[in-house]
Amino acid sequence: MADLATTGPTSQAAPARLDPYSLRKDFPILATSNRFGKPLVYLDSAATSLKPLAVIEAVDGYNREYSSNIHRGIYEIAERATEAYEATRVKVARLINAPEPAEIVFVRNATEAINLVAYSWGRRNIGRGDTIVLTEMEHHANLVPWQLVVQEMDGDLEFVPITDDGILRLEVYEVLLHLRPKLVAFTQVSNMLGTINPVREMVEMAHAAGALVLIDGAQAVPHVPVDVQELGADFYVFSGHKMLGPTGSGALWARRELLEAMPPFMAGGDMIREVHLRRSEWNEIPYKFEAGTPDIAAQIGMGAAADYLMGLGMEAVRAHEQELARYALEVLPREVPGIELYGPAAELRGGVVSFNLPGIHPHDVAQILDRSGICVRAGHHCTMPLHERFDLAATARASFNVYTVPEEIDALAVGLREVARIFDR
Ligand code: ALA
Repeated sequence: MADLATTGPTSQAAPARLDPYSLRKDFPILATSNRFGKPLVYLDSAATSLKPLAVIEAVDGYNREYSSNIHRGIYEIAERATEAYEATRVKVARLINAPEPAEIVFVRNATEAINLVAYSWGRRNIGRGDTIVLTEMEHHANLVPWQLVVQEMDGDLEFVPITDDGILRLEVYEVLLHLRPKLVAFTQVSNMLGTINPVREMVEMAHAAGALVLIDGAQAVPHVPVDVQELGADFYVFSGHKMLGPTGSGALWARRELLEAMPPFMAGGDMIREVHLRRSEWNEIPYKFEAGTPDIAAQIGMGAAADYLMGLGMEAVRAHEQELARYALEVLPREVPGIELYGPAAELRGGVVSFNLPGIHPHDVAQILDRSGICVRAGHHCTMPLHERFDLAATARASFNVYTVPEEIDALAVGLREVARIFDR
């Protein structure tokens, strides 16, 4: 594998490269070691990413220097808190190229964003016999809220199937669109297979059939350039904690006219303009959807994360992670006899590689790797239907981020050989 630290652009047109070795210094946790003194090899970024100092300091700065509520106080630190919170909206809008910051609604995570759309838009717009089209590769967060909507409203769900290589079958999608669904909702990047879906084409097809589109960008915003205007989506959701930001931060983007027509999801303070004993008037967007004191520190941290990612350049982030995926798909089968890998070729996938060692439960795999300081996720990764599709009870998953280096994939290969040795395979 080429040394990622020294490989430079080969032509004027090539995107800037990031240097994972030098940016690792920005992540203090990477200097830690486990109970056996082994350095951390963090390969679980799809579950949650590590946090750079810029994010840690942004959260700490709020708590130390201007901890106060937003949109209320008429004193210096409260004004500073409001400014920092609203600055995040501008940064996040820039990160996904939203037309205006007012279309960014802060939520705790992508799951909450999807629930918001399901409760507010779904219960208004899905009626008896209406169809919602999803895919077989959805995270439970983009499945269960829609199950609740169609159960309550007497609608139907249909699913785009996938090939054995983990690619959506667009020819079946096209047929499902003949049902004239009200909504199509799908992930941009699969958290289990790593598949990067052809979202732009899928949005165009959905719109031609008269459907609105929700894109689950939880595994996309941290890893690939996202431009919601170019994608043409109607709703786009993502979590802050997977994009180097704090847990408890996230965003829903939706077109202004959709947000304005939607009723509130949660009621309380900040989402109102006027309250009388028997009626209330809602605040303008996005505040209509931000009831109660939010996780101010976390959202400010997400703003720092957005800045950090934009500083690296999302093209460079994508190029780095694609290179890691390619390396993993080459090294693991070569170095780990019998390993089973799932998902498409590196060109079509993000930095996610799910696998199994035949006859060894992924929980055992993860537990033994943990002794060497290697963190992978084991289980169904909140995608039980996708595991059923492949007739799998569980998988182990390695997932990458900007700070991942190929040597960590080498360490995984060594660790997996050790697992096989222990189980005498
Ligand atoms: N959705 C997260 C994952 O894939 C938690 O691990």
